[in-house]
Amino acid sequence: MSVFELTDADRAAAAEHVRFAEREAAKTGLPADTPLRPVDQVAVIGAGTMGGGIAMALANAGLPVVLVDADAAALERGLQRVRANYDTSVQRGKLTPEAVAERMARIRGTNNLADAGGPDGADLFIEAVFEDMALKQRLFRELDAIAKAGAILATNTSGLDINEIAAATRRPQDVVGAHFFSPANVMRLLEVVRTDATAADVVVTLMALGRRIGKVAVLARIWPGFIGNALFRQYNREAHFLVEDGALPHEVDATLTKFGYAMGIFAVHDMAGNDVGYPTRKAQMATRPTDRRWNDLILKLVEMGRLGQKSGQGWYRYEAGDRRPQRDPELEAWIVAESARMGIQRRPIGEEEILERCLYGMVNEGARLLEHGIALRPSDIDIVYLTGYGFPAAQGGPMAMADRIGLPKVLAAIRRLHAEHGFWWQPAPLLEQLVAEGRSFADLQRAGG
Ligand SMILES: NC(=O)c1ccc[n+]([C@@H]2O[C@H](COP(=O)([O-])OP(=O)(O)OC[C@H]3O[C@@H](n4cnc5c(N)ncnc54)[C@H](O)[C@@H]3O)[C@@H](O)[C@H]2O)c1
Repeated sequence: MSVFELTDADRAAAAEHVRFAEREAAKTGLPADTPLRPVDQVAVIGAGTMGGGIAMALANAGLPVVLVDADAAALERGLQRVRANYDTSVQRGKLTPEAVAERMARIRGTNNLADAGGPDGADLFIEAVFEDMALKQRLFRELDAIAKAGAILATNTSGLDINEIAAATRRPQDVVGAHFFSPANVMRLLEVVRTDATAADVVVTLMALGRRIGKVAVLARIWPGFIGNALFRQYNREAHFLVEDGALPHEVDATLTKFGYAMGIFAVHDMAGNDVGYPTRKAQMATRPTDRRWNDLILKLVEMGRLGQKSGQGWYRYEAGDRRPQRDPELEAWIVAESARMGIQRRPIGEEEILERCLYGMVNEGARLLEHGIALRPSDIDIVYLTGYGFPAAQGGPMAMADRIGLPKVLAAIRRLHAEHGFWWQPAPLLEQLVAEGRSFADLQRAGG
């Protein structure tokens, strides 16, 4: 039996672990008497994909929101998208028209940031403008000028260094990450990211706000990709390498869905749009270290116009009006040619290798996050994965899965992958230490660190 297969007892233990993990995530380790700052009014800046969803999540919980966008047409589009989302809920019988009217009335749009400032203005600002450091720093300087004293200044950045954003203000203690997931009105996860300077009361206030709006808030510190995207990078990278090495997208995806994911990673890319993150990835190419393997198939896909579902072609092809991925012989021939161009001798790749390479990199990175104090505890990493990344609940999360399989087995596989593939598989010191001591992630958590 594969180590990834589950018995009924495993499933029951995972369900118990998920309940436990959710309760644990609420514990910040900060003094219990840390006072909350009042949050009665919120301003969301940027009425795009994220800003609109965040505004809905707040309005759904009864909070008045000012939705700010510098671009009049973008604001209009953002408000229309919010309205359209609510209309869909009415059509599905999930909300009454009256409830929608109440919620819409809580969201006020403006093009002028200053409208949200001043002594009667927002207690909390959540920035969701383009992912651009210079733009965000400029905006935070403006916020510094207009926000009342004690207001919390949060950023929804996916990956910029929030210390640098905070440094643009004269109040870095009030700056924090509030990393929502798309669609923000639906996804339960909220990563609260504290910088080196974030005040304790700002942390506990955001964690409490998360609960108030029905999210599972998980505390993280600054690290490239925080918790969720740090692990996702490992998963994503190996999936792409597997395709270069000999697997086809549908084989990787079939293995991942058999493991328990609702969708495989290539189907997810096609759904989200292969162009998401294109500019960032392209810009990073110039400064990449050359001592390790990189993967750029997805950039080439975008350059070929294979954006995914929206262009009818991506890792798969799509019939008009049908979102079901179909294998695409043209794409598969291109992949085979790319492997040859890279000098890779393609070989058949089995399910076990696909799962080891997609999943164990996440476990290894999770151990690194724990070692550096980025995540407070192993179960926080699990809950991030269960609520934000579609990790199969029956597996309990990546760290619980690793405990179930046994850390010595996981480390042995990582060492083998390191010997075969090099750089990306250097075993995390904490994982090595736990194995040497005969301990598990759960033991580490019980010991409190
Ligand atoms: N899309 C996602 O899945 C996702 C998930 C998590 C986090 N994020 C992060 O959230 C942020 C927003 O992403 P998005 O996908 O919603 O972007 P988007 O392009 O959909 O929307 C950004 C909006 O910001 C507005 N804007 C730009 N400059 C502005 C300014 N100075 N003042 C006011 N408004 C301004 C734009 O007009 C636009 O409407 C980014 O930092 C992104 O990395 C995105």
